[in-house]
Amino acid sequence: MNGDSWPCALASGWHPLAHARELGARPLARTLMDVPVVLFRSGGQAVALVDRCPHRNVPLSCGQVRDGAIHCPYHGWAFDAGGRCVRVPGAEAVPDVAARALAVQECAGLVWVSLAPIPAAFPGLPPVLDEPTRDGFWWPLPASRARVLDAIENLLDPAHPHFLHPYLVRRPGARRAVRVRFTSDERGGEARYDEAEASLAWLPQLFEGRRTTVVGRYLAPSIAQLAFDSDAGSTLTLTVIFTPESQERTRPFAHFSTRRGLLPAWLKRWLLIAFHRPVLHQDRVMLARQAATIERFGEAAFSVGPMDLFGPLIWRLANGRASSAQQRELQFWL
Ligand code: FES
Ligand SMILES: [Fe+2]
Repeated sequence: MNGDSWPCALASGWHPLAHARELGARPLARTLMDVPVVLFRSGGQAVALVDRCPHRNVPLSCGQVRDGAIHCPYHGWAFDAGGRCVRVPGAEAVPDVAARALAVQECAGLVWVSLAPIPAAFPGLPPVLDEPTRDGFWWPLPASRARVLDAIENLLDPAHPHFLHPYLVRRPGARRAVRVRFTSDERGGEARYDEAEASLAWLPQLFEGRRTTVVGRYLAPSIAQLAFDSDAGSTLTLTVIFTPESQERTRPFAHFSTRRGLLPAWLKRWLLIAFHRPVLHQDRVMLARQAATIERFGEAAFSVGPMDLFGPLIWRLANGRASSAQQRELQFWL
């Protein structure tokens, strides 16, 4: 395992690897912090094993699941839900070997895995992921080139949309004063933007109506959330859980939750994806450029600007460094 090179809160933490509905009769190959993982179901329960047959080290994910065991594609050894070898085709004896079983849990429609022998407590998830009185859906997304902590910061960064998403998120040249209240503690942080006058582009305006507040939240180590409110209350909450596949590849699990209202759920889903697809593409291009530049220089050398509320908090908490409770009032022009 390569846990040493990862921020400790990620190394010991829980990470979604798949949507629960993706996991059926076929094994699913995933990567978590450079470790190949195979997921499958045994008796309906999700199972996660390190994806390496202990016999000759071929990937178990290329095999088949039968009777709740995964059968290696090379010599057919079978491994049960605990990873133990339970059958060697052509022989009576079964060697005392196992593929390493990983801690796994299903929660909020996702299959979560931890690489740690003794995992951290399961993260407290935002209630909006399971809220039956709202319309909600997960948007399945592939992994892309991005460093995980940079991807988290990107979602919570209020300073880039004028430049990276002009006319989609912000109207360039129309900045307005926005009051910001930032609070943080050892679990994460929250920035509340009083946005009544801010320069919103017409598309979000169409969807949200008159926006009054945006709240950006970070829940350590890898959950970020944006909650948009109008005069009538919460319009939209976007929650993203970022799974580190490798140092430079991150898979986002994105969930949209909207208030039940005039539009049917299927139409809202269509509109939200149509709007967020180009925004996501622009962010991915920039995150890939950032990762490539950092790789060429061999290390990151970041400075912290006046609008970088979340970066330092994310770096601290992901690395297990204590953070005392803080509260700040600021003014930005957004
Ligand atoms: S390599 Fe898996 S059974 Fe031989
Ligand atoms: Fe963005």
